[in-house]
Amino acid sequence: MVSTVSMAVDLGGIKMRNPLNTASGTFGNGVQFEGFYDVGATLGAITCKGVAAEPWDGNPAPRLAELPSAIMNSVGLQNPGVEGFVERYGTYLAGLREKGCQVICQIAGHSLDEYRRATELFEELAPFASGFEVNISCPNIAAGGAAMGATPNAAAEVMSAVRPLTDRPVIVKMAPHDVAEIGRALEAAGADALSLINTIPGMAIDVHTRRSRVARPTAGVSGPAIHAIAVRMVWECAQAVRIPLCGIGGVASGTDAAEMILAGATAVSVGTANLYDPTCVPRILSELEQWAAEQGVSDINELIGAFEC
Ligand SMILES: Cc1cc2nc3c(=O)[nH]c(=O)nc-3n(C[C@H](O)[C@H](O)[C@H](O)COP(=O)(O)O)c2cc1C
Repeated sequence: MVSTVSMAVDLGGIKMRNPLNTASGTFGNGVQFEGFYDVGATLGAITCKGVAAEPWDGNPAPRLAELPSAIMNSVGLQNPGVEGFVERYGTYLAGLREKGCQVICQIAGHSLDEYRRATELFEELAPFASGFEVNISCPNIAAGGAAMGATPNAAAEVMSAVRPLTDRPVIVKMAPHDVAEIGRALEAAGADALSLINTIPGMAIDVHTRRSRVARPTAGVSGPAIHAIAVRMVWECAQAVRIPLCGIGGVASGTDAAEMILAGATAVSVGTANLYDPTCVPRILSELEQWAAEQGVSDINELIGAFEC
């Protein structure tokens, strides 16, 4: 079906040809999916894996466990550092930009200084980045990550540290709690957009060995099982802020993406679904276009936040 609906959206200054984005850490850095479809010609944006100023080793294995309708991961933000990331992926990501796919680079850190340093390095070395996403919500690292985004003040401090260092759009990736209050603090600190939610901390115990099914006692749960929770949090956050939102959590179909948009999301990221169905993004996009056409609108923006209680 050829869509008659305009699908273009603006995520805080990142102009996307359609609302579909990828959730950080679930899509490699795009090139890993090239065998399945033309990434640059399909997606509105790609969000890359979290990267810190210096390389991080991540957590010990096992890092992944399968659960009913979900997975749990404890990757711990393994990454090659900004320089290594740009060296390995810079040329590919610049090519995505040329094809009209926006590139969002994700910034990780253990402290305000580390967030600042990573932002400065990205500013200098990554001209291909359309904007940045600051990860203050990783549940799998001992310091920084979710701890940095746990309260409105702590979250705003990270945003205020990064804000003066770049003129490019800055999105903040939020943890799954207090999203209205923390969202308001991030907006006041200068965030251009918010993305939510990151994984939900959970536990899975092997009852035979009495040990965790991953190397750490807790890990982040993602996938279809968290979708309804994510939609609720997008809706709560949308009531609280004026800046645009990117809805993340268990999106595996056009209907799931449409729910996020109705709840108030401007863009929608596909995460865990990429891992069990690497061809899902083009299907989700065509289902979303079909839904928008059936709703009788000429522009997908008319449907953002159009949920009726
Ligand atoms: C294996 C794996 C790695 C992830 N790595 C990151 C990361 O580097 N940065 C981040 O903000 N979120 C990371 N996430 C969280 C996802 O971006 C997303 O917020 C979460 O999985 C919920 O979406 P989903 O249910 O569609 O997967 C990761 C998730 C998984 C499953």
